[in-house]
Amino acid sequence: MSPDAETVKALLWTLHQAQQTVWAWIAALGLTPSQHGQAVWPFGQRLAAEQLLFDGGQAGRLLVSGAAVVLAAVLLLVSGFWRRARWPLWGGAVLLLVFAPWPQWSLLTVPTVPTAFHRSPTGFTAASILEGQRLYGAHCQRCHGDDGSGEGPDAARLAMWPPTLNGSLLWKRTEGELFWHVRNGLRDRAGRVTMPPASAALDDAQLWALLDFLKAQAAGQTLRKTGAWRFPVRLPDAPLRCRDTASSLHALQGQRVRLALTRGDAHALSDDPRLVTVAVGPGTSPVDCHSDDAALEAAMAVLVGVAPSALPGHRLIADRQGWLRVRGRPGVDWSADDLVCRASTPAAQAAPVAAAADGLDGLIRRMDSEPVRQVSGGFPH
Ligand code: HEC
Repeated sequence: MSPDAETVKALLWTLHQAQQTVWAWIAALGLTPSQHGQAVWPFGQRLAAEQLLFDGGQAGRLLVSGAAVVLAAVLLLVSGFWRRARWPLWGGAVLLLVFAPWPQWSLLTVPTVPTAFHRSPTGFTAASILEGQRLYGAHCQRCHGDDGSGEGPDAARLAMWPPTLNGSLLWKRTEGELFWHVRNGLRDRAGRVTMPPASAALDDAQLWALLDFLKAQAAGQTLRKTGAWRFPVRLPDAPLRCRDTASSLHALQGQRVRLALTRGDAHALSDDPRLVTVAVGPGTSPVDCHSDDAALEAAMAVLVGVAPSALPGHRLIADRQGWLRVRGRPGVDWSADDLVCRASTPAAQAAPVAAAADGLDGLIRRMDSEPVRQVSGGFPH
């Protein structure tokens, strides 16, 4: 039996929630020590359910086994009230559990680390992306390359070629796993160091900032090479002023947000009732909100995959949930190609953007009707 895609997604979501709940309880009950300020995941493995997306058979087995567990629990409950039927009910529960088509657990779990579910304290800000970029240049670039593709000047001399940091790797791992791997380094099966630990040179806050940069860089580089943000990325946070009141980009969540530079972008810099326009850069501007945070400009260049000098004319739009979805190019009108973060279903990826009064209208409609589901650690959520 192979369940349909929606059922598998619901199953993944349930597994993810169950795992998070287990971790929350372990942490709340103080059953595990704290490291780096957060509770440790005490197991060497975690569920990594991405396999279920490819292997419908395993998903089916898991569903049937789950049903068997629920049924067995019901039988045990009933046996509490119906004393005379107790033995047959217990026997039934045992048979159900023994004969359930259990999935192959080795396919559904991956080795993990104590910081598996640690959350980044940065809040994904423009400032942390910029700080991460500086640290990357100083500590990582020689192996991982200018653009994260793994072709740094030292790469060819290593025992193992560094992986590209712009592929699915960053999303297959949890953030806490990446933190651990970069902090403590990696070894091959024979125990030889493949990546040296960064812990001597970088503190925890710096490591988290580096991970923000890696995500932004992966978005920009995949956009540059493939014309799409293959993995969803958030609108970074930055301070701004809206009609003389101090605010921040993340405080605008719930509304659609457009970022446009004050330099050379006169036509994008008028208010539009469909979204909140934020002018980015020095000077004054005629629109709703204004940010002169230099880090925001630098982060935008990373996210778009261009040098800062080539940024003027680019625009970014985030949806109401705070995901970056649309990228506008200098001197080019809005078109379907600007919806660079699409929903993950193949149908949505292939669907043409409906004709609309102006290009932006069609893009906004698509953005609203196809919400993003983030993938992390093999789980959509
Ligand atoms: C001496 C070369 C070198 C340096 C310096 C280096 N790396 Fe690596 N990195 C590697 C190699 C080689 C691998 C693959 C190791 C493996 O899979 O065993 C790797 C793997 C990774 C991975 C993938 C980890 C995973 O979960 O599989 C990340 C992320 C990463 N590096 C980030 C960084 C960051 C951030 C820095 C800077 C602080 C850095 N690296 C510095 C060589 C390097």
